[in-house]
Amino acid sequence: MTVRTGRHFLQIPGPTNVPDRVLRAMSAPTVDHRGPEFAGLARRVLEALKPVFGTAGPVVVYPSSGTGAWEAALVNTLSPGDRVLCFETGHFATLWRDMAESLGLEVEFVPGDWRHGASPEAAAQRLDADISHDIKAVCVVHNETSTGVTSRVPEIRAALDAAGHPALLLVDTVSSLGSIEYRHDDWGVDVTVTGSQKGLMLPPGLGFNAVSDKALTAARASRLPKSYWEWGPIIDANEAGFFPSTPATNLLYGLDEALLMLAEEGLEQVWARHARHAAATRAAVRGWGLEVLCADEREHSGSLTAVLLSDGQDADAVRKIVLERFDMSLGTGLGRLAGKVFRIGHLGHFNDLTLAGTLAGVQMGLELAGIPVGRDGIAAALDHLRVD
Ligand SMILES: Cc1ncc(COP(=O)(O)O)c(C=O)c1O
Repeated sequence: MTVRTGRHFLQIPGPTNVPDRVLRAMSAPTVDHRGPEFAGLARRVLEALKPVFGTAGPVVVYPSSGTGAWEAALVNTLSPGDRVLCFETGHFATLWRDMAESLGLEVEFVPGDWRHGASPEAAAQRLDADISHDIKAVCVVHNETSTGVTSRVPEIRAALDAAGHPALLLVDTVSSLGSIEYRHDDWGVDVTVTGSQKGLMLPPGLGFNAVSDKALTAARASRLPKSYWEWGPIIDANEAGFFPSTPATNLLYGLDEALLMLAEEGLEQVWARHARHAAATRAAVRGWGLEVLCADEREHSGSLTAVLLSDGQDADAVRKIVLERFDMSLGTGLGRLAGKVFRIGHLGHFNDLTLAGTLAGVQMGLELAGIPVGRDGIAAALDHLRVD
């Protein structure tokens, strides 16, 4: 039996490390979800969620993973055969496209190289050409967790506005909300999708949709089949602090505490902290002489960094060594990036020394895997943390 001492380093880009405060909050006894105590909690949480999304509108909370929240966004707003514009930014964008197709939507998938975000130019070109306004929704994964690339959502919004196009804008923020700057209302997003297990610092199990007035109007006309996911009954029940079906009570206790932590730090500081750790991580990758997968300076992710290895080098072998020797989990390469990249998660409950420890484990793992790396990686990251 292998004896492990100290804490496991969970440095995948989600689920992330859950703060002790949040764990303790979740360990409270489960209450009657139709009683007055619960209603107070639900009302508080539903209000406190709004600033995190940057919205004054309703946020629908499901006992689900992020995938459920993807489905909710589509089935509430669209009808069979509707055209949807999606962008091939990576594995998760591809899965969302697959889901849209399986629900009976007609998807135009703008091809991508998995190193760039959704192209505002390609969006503009498709939207300008759609003079009959057949495209009903534009779907963008804000932070592509498989690649560490953050799409420029405001520029996609600007493309919609410049074309005078009425399509809804649906945005996946599963690995950006609570980590990377995001503004649902200011950026004119209609549905924001997220999950609990990344920037919100909770275990997996909650899915969210923030919903604009325009999306609520679209929901009234939408004809895709839905029942459990239907926003209307949930928003109605939420008015009084309740849910139509049994909510994930103890996860909501945790959410209450996590939202308090985000408010205590301040959202702008949370974003700045993530951006700083991401920059230090990139300094380390360059110091090792390796390549960051994201190919556009404007699109570096604040929540994770995907490190690209050369042909013949096995990223999963590095991950295996790091796990066995240093008890640290790194993210695997997904889809077409399998074996080619490993991903360093630096989001959620995280500080300078967690990053230093993480990068030390990565550097040693690379060396043990026989990958020739410069020894300046850690030093470059520490310099960044010291001066910045
Ligand atoms: C960007 C993104 N979208 C969607 C999902 C799917 O969420 P879940 O695995 O919680 O269903 C993930 C999961 O990591 C993700 O990173």
